[in-house]
Amino acid sequence: MATVTFDKATRIYPGSTKPAVDALEIDIADGEFLVLVGPSGCGKSTSLRMLAGLEDVNGGAIRIGDRDVTHLPPKDRDIAMVFQNYALYPHMSVADNMGFALKIAGVNKAEIRQKVEEAAKILDLTDYLDRKPKALSGGQRQRVAMGRAIVREPQVFLMDEPLSNLDAKLRVSTRTQIASLQRRLGITTVYVTHDQVEALTMGDRVAVLKDGLLQQVDTPRNMYDRPANLFVAGFIGSPAMNLVEVPITDGGVKFGNAVVPVQRDALSAATDKTVTVGVRPEHFDVATGVEKGLAVVVNVVEELGSDAFVYGTAQVGDESKDLVVRVGGRDVPEKGSTLHVVPRGGETHVFSTSTGERLSD
Ligand SMILES: Nc1ncnc2c1ncn2[C@@H]1O[C@H](COP(=O)(O)OP(=O)(O)OP(=O)(O)O)[C@@H](O)[C@H]1O
Ligand SMILES: [Mg+2]
Repeated sequence: MATVTFDKATRIYPGSTKPAVDALEIDIADGEFLVLVGPSGCGKSTSLRMLAGLEDVNGGAIRIGDRDVTHLPPKDRDIAMVFQNYALYPHMSVADNMGFALKIAGVNKAEIRQKVEEAAKILDLTDYLDRKPKALSGGQRQRVAMGRAIVREPQVFLMDEPLSNLDAKLRVSTRTQIASLQRRLGITTVYVTHDQVEALTMGDRVAVLKDGLLQQVDTPRNMYDRPANLFVAGFIGSPAMNLVEVPITDGGVKFGNAVVPVQRDALSAATDKTVTVGVRPEHFDVATGVEKGLAVVVNVVEELGSDAFVYGTAQVGDESKDLVVRVGGRDVPEKGSTLHVVPRGGETHVFSTSTGERLSD
């Protein structure tokens, strides 16, 4: 087992002037499950491939434990990678697929068999060892790909969207299996996904990337409760946080006809006349009987049984703004009706409108 360090690691692809990964700095603890997440093209796979040794590092360094691996070939890094397209060998049995890397490494047959059987037991694949990949379900194939990585007993697992070939339901159950397996094995893991729900549910910590730049690395809880900037605020959480540009006024910010108190420090740090206030859908109070706060005209209601999401439009200044409000499952408003909402005290996030940086604690 080992720690992993990205020390200002930079990748500039030939022919490009802009780094695909720009001075990435993350310290990953021994045994940690770290998830790299961000939109398409933000540099997730490039970061992982730099750690794997499949991509040159043009600046900075990468360390595994105390070893500087920046310029080591992949085979000397003691890592195992699971890709999105896990490409099992179709003509080989499950057991041979799982043991292939060990065979190449010259490990003797008995030892390979023992390691494969151990991994198969962990992955619930014992009954399938003699089958060919085509006779397996998608989830079982995915587990064989995991097995191939496990038998190598690497210091670090690298996974690049390993669940994206699975259907939605299988993806949910498999992500729980991978997370619990990782905890059991205690092997440091770097996991790439573009799915923020996957990131929050699986990671000990989550690193959000945008345009090759690290935005924030934090626990799922802190990422949700204290996003560092507008990008993270909008990216993490589903439905997304409402982000509304509102005027600063005496004692707070003006939210429709209501003044919402926000941290004094946050406002004194603001350099603009407005701030952008973030409110999660579950942090609006619906005013009953009074026309207080923002008037939201209901467009669509998504009922989930226990609660419901109201998608509506509000007039904010001279702009019309789409908002999402969570309401109780038994208090669902009519489509076309108007709802008055006020952000709950203490549950707002304040960001600089111009820089996007978080201003509130
Ligand atoms: N071999 C390459 N040569 C040149 N540019 C590349 C190469 N591979 C990736 N890029 C560019 O580098 C940037 C980061 O790509 P990368 O594959 O790391 O993104 P990603 O976050 O994994 O995206 P996705 O979610 O779509 O897989 C993109 O702008 C991409 O176009
Ligand atoms: Mg990718």
